[in-house]
Formats: sequence, C-alpha cells, structure tokens
Amino acid sequence: MKPSTYHRKLSQFGADILHSPGMQSEKHYMQHGDVSVFAHSIAVACTCLWIARLLQLYLNFRLNERVLIRGALLHDYFLYDWHVPDKSHRLHGFFHAKLAFQNASRDFALGEIERDMILRHMFPLNPCPPAYPESIILCIADKLCAAEETLSRKSRYRKISSRY
Ligand SMILES: [Fe+2]
Ligand SMILES: [Fe+2]
Repeated sequence: MKPSTYHRKLSQFGADILHSPGMQSEKHYMQHGDVSVFAHSIAVACTCLWIARLLQLYLNFRLNERVLIRGALLHDYFLYDWHVPDKSHRLHGFFHAKLAFQNASRDFALGEIERDMILRHMFPLNPCPPAYPESIILCIADKLCAAEETLSRKSRYRKISSRY
C-alpha cells in the first residue's frame, strides 16, 4: 500500500486517538532504539493493515479495518517510559498490556475486539491467547515491528508517524 493509503485509513478510523493528549504524550516515551511508543504504535497499525490486505487478496478474508487500526494504535497505551526504573511499572513486559487496557478504557470507548487486542497482544509472554483474528494479526504485527525497531533501530513507517 502507498503511504497515502495508510495515512487516509489512519485518519479515517483513528484521528480522535492520534490527536488525543494521551497518544501525543507517547511521542516522549521511547519504545525500541530511538523509536517512540507513538511511532511504534503507528508502525504496528500500518503493519496490521498490510497483513489484512494480504489476507483479503489471497484468501478473500476480510477484517474490520476500523477495529484493527484502533486496537493497534492503543495496544501500548501504558503512558510511561519503561526505560526509567519505577516501582509502578516493574516487570513491564508482563503487566503493560493490562495498564494499556485500563488507560485506553478510561480515555476511549472500546469494543469487545479492541479490548481483546490490547489485553492479549503480549501473547505468549502473557499466557492468555488472542481470541479474534484482529487480535492475532496485532500479535504478529507487534512482534515484526519490535524486531525491526530493535535490530535496525528505526521504523519503516517513520514518515507516516511524523504527520501527526
Ligand atoms: Fe506491548
Ligand atoms: Fe507494541
């Protein structure tokens, strides 16, 4: 997909999230390398869309793009810098999905699939497996982006995230 297509879909389904104070604050929290949680979340949402497009093209399997984008944008909505040691977020890998879910439910109206996406995106580190196709796609996209950001210390979707 062209960058403009990703941008159009993110704006169409996730503008309220992208421009919210909570999401904007993610620009100040680093995720992997010098990629912020904000840029990581956009990269994950774009990767979800890319996988969804492949599934539609090759298997004629349709996913809910609105839910996919919103769940992906909010999956790491834990709102702190996990590199800064603090009692409130010890064992970040194990507990941040629950914190992201609590923050996201406070700030946005979440549907059943979005709740499942956020809560279970850390499978298998968090042992409860994702229950919906959108949650499984998020799980895969998150790991692909984390690997790219950790190994190359950047995100291919950096340009898109700089638009918000
Ligand atoms: Fe996460
Ligand atoms: Fe993530």
